[in-house]
Amino acid sequence: MISPRIHHFDTVDSTNDVALEMARRGEPEGTVVIGKRQLKGKGRRGRSWWDEPGKSVLMSVILTPDRPPTELAHLSFVASLAVAECLEAKCGLPVSLKWPNDVLVRERKIAGILVETTHVPSGTAAVVGIGVNVNQKEFPPDIAFTATSVALEKGTVDSVDELASALSEGLFANYETFLVEGFEEILGRWRNYMWGLGRQADVAAEGRSLRGTVAGVDSTGALVLRDSLGSDHAIRAADAVVEVLP
Ligand code: BTN
Repeated sequence: MISPRIHHFDTVDSTNDVALEMARRGEPEGTVVIGKRQLKGKGRRGRSWWDEPGKSVLMSVILTPDRPPTELAHLSFVASLAVAECLEAKCGLPVSLKWPNDVLVRERKIAGILVETTHVPSGTAAVVGIGVNVNQKEFPPDIAFTATSVALEKGTVDSVDELASALSEGLFANYETFLVEGFEEILGRWRNYMWGLGRQADVAAEGRSLRGTVAGVDSTGALVLRDSLGSDHAIRAADAVVEVLP
């Protein structure tokens, strides 16, 4: 079992950037960077990640699984599952997971995952960044109708730090499962939370656009979209945009 080495910071540009730099300097697997505030929080697809000081979990974890780089994307399933299980167990929230790794409560996003990699002397290190909206009661206008927080869904959380610890414990437990039992075990549990199954969606990936019914996630973690003729398409691109139709 990996023992976490937790580093707390007050203000950073991005906990992912701090963890990437630490990994390059040789900090080992299990290093956890927690920030109270980010000035340049990063989201997927070049977006920014907004936070209000002290009111979110902002966490990045260095992991170095001995797996081919193509499989490092599996870590986003390991992490989103840990967030879903933690928010369900600790906060009693009805959580669902939107492929590839958005964490939703009642159709609104409560948490996001950003996995980045860097070269280190021993090969490749992954940094798994997790942002959870915890005690925010208001959001900036551009995300006001799509974001939510634990406080808005359930009530204020007494200790954001305790939630962060529970989350890091869950993440390491799931990572251990991933290493020992394999990705299928994680996927099996991930599928229980999958959002959008059976719904019509437009998916834009690798410069093409597809419309179909969300049919599931295959054994590699690709989204399966069934077109109107009944053919299945596996969507692998990490930068795919899935828009479920009303
Ligand atoms: C997304 O777009 O859904 C991913 C958001 C990831 C945000 C987290 S907050 C902690 C870590 N540091 C960052 O700069 N980003 C991730």
